[in-house]
Amino acid sequence: MRVLGPPGWVAAVLFRVLLGSEGGAMAHGEVRLTTTASGHPAWLVSDHGTVRRLLTDPRLDVYHEDPAGAPRCFASGPFGPPQQWTPDAAEDHLRMRRLVGRSMSARRLAGLRPRIQEIVDGLLDDLAAAPRHADFHRLVSAPLPPLVLRELFGVPDDEGGDFDGWLHDAISDHDPDRMVRGITGLSPYVATLVRRRIAEPRGDVPTDLAAAHTEDPEHWTMERLTGAACLILLAGVGPTMDAIDDSLVRLSADADQWAAVRESPELVENAVEELLRLSAITAAGTRTPFGIPRWAGTDVTVDGTTIRKGELVLLDIHAASHDERHIAEPDRLDVHRTGKTPLIFGAGAHYCLGAPLARMQLCILFRTLIGRFPAMRLAVPAGGIRSRDPRLAVGSTGLPVAW
Ligand code: HEM
Repeated sequence: MRVLGPPGWVAAVLFRVLLGSEGGAMAHGEVRLTTTASGHPAWLVSDHGTVRRLLTDPRLDVYHEDPAGAPRCFASGPFGPPQQWTPDAAEDHLRMRRLVGRSMSARRLAGLRPRIQEIVDGLLDDLAAAPRHADFHRLVSAPLPPLVLRELFGVPDDEGGDFDGWLHDAISDHDPDRMVRGITGLSPYVATLVRRRIAEPRGDVPTDLAAAHTEDPEHWTMERLTGAACLILLAGVGPTMDAIDDSLVRLSADADQWAAVRESPELVENAVEELLRLSAITAAGTRTPFGIPRWAGTDVTVDGTTIRKGELVLLDIHAASHDERHIAEPDRLDVHRTGKTPLIFGAGAHYCLGAPLARMQLCILFRTLIGRFPAMRLAVPAGGIRSRDPRLAVGSTGLPVAW
């Protein structure tokens, strides 16, 4: 039996505090039995090697034969339950990944780079116009991801306001009414964009979706295409916004590390990887304090523990990123650290399709920000920042900064 170090211990406490779990975790080697907020049992895995291995194990996935009766993380809310298992579910998912992957190709993202730089420059101009203190979340972190997605989806300027509003509503998963309002606005709008591109193709995501519909209308129904588009949009906004907030808080709190990037801007890629590794952000669809939920599709034995078919497994990517058997001094921010790919984008069959775009936004933003605002710092103690999602303690609703 492994005795958990501080990260696992912190995770176990957080689990009880944030999810209101009654019971303590029972250790079974690398796998610990615990209880979720909805009162369901779950297997918690927090060491780096096992988390990584299980993320790529096809016997654990997001499907369940009986989603309504399955163990889950939260008692209510749209996130947390598994998806319905069908014989075609995995194949359909693969087809969706191929389509979305093509839409987010390296070539398309390279073409987007200068535009992202312009967007960042514009947002930082707005920040610079403030009287040496401002809300960084309102002026930069919140608008940046929607503005980038407007480009990717070819949203005309005069429709951008509605688009941004729906996006912000749709990612408010702690406020289900607001979330439904957002999705109700977004879905028909995205379908309209695809229909426009069937008539008049361009080089954007709706054009790729329209082409898929024209090639195989039986599979790529408008409903499926709208689902794929909404997945990109919803998955793309919240975690990127939270990652920007979280990274600013961490980096600005460490004067030496901030100075290292200021003096050697080429360190920014390393710095972003390290900030992502340390970050506690979660992705849409995986919104638990432990990162990634999976359900066993068959009995699976892990380190001597048998996880039965249908049981819930929580792959704690955050604790795994602090596993000192994987990384030395795991809690220290070190922008010179290399070679430790973060698990924050997951791994395996569901690996984040937007990881290159997220990294690009963070790198462009932090390189430009540190160059233009070399003395930026938080204007409030880090502990006083209100989180965007109170259940998860990530992101912010406002980030006062001064320079
Ligand atoms: C820092 C920002 C981001 C983080 C931390 C993040 C994290 C993740 C994680 C952990 C998953 C895997 C979930 C699982 O295994 O169940 C995921 C999936 C996904 N992400 Fe991201 N993501 C980010 C940004 C983005 C962006 C910018 C986009 C697109 C614009 C995006 C699109 C997607 C999509 C489409 C999936 C679903 C993949 C699948 O189910 O096969 N993400 N993301």
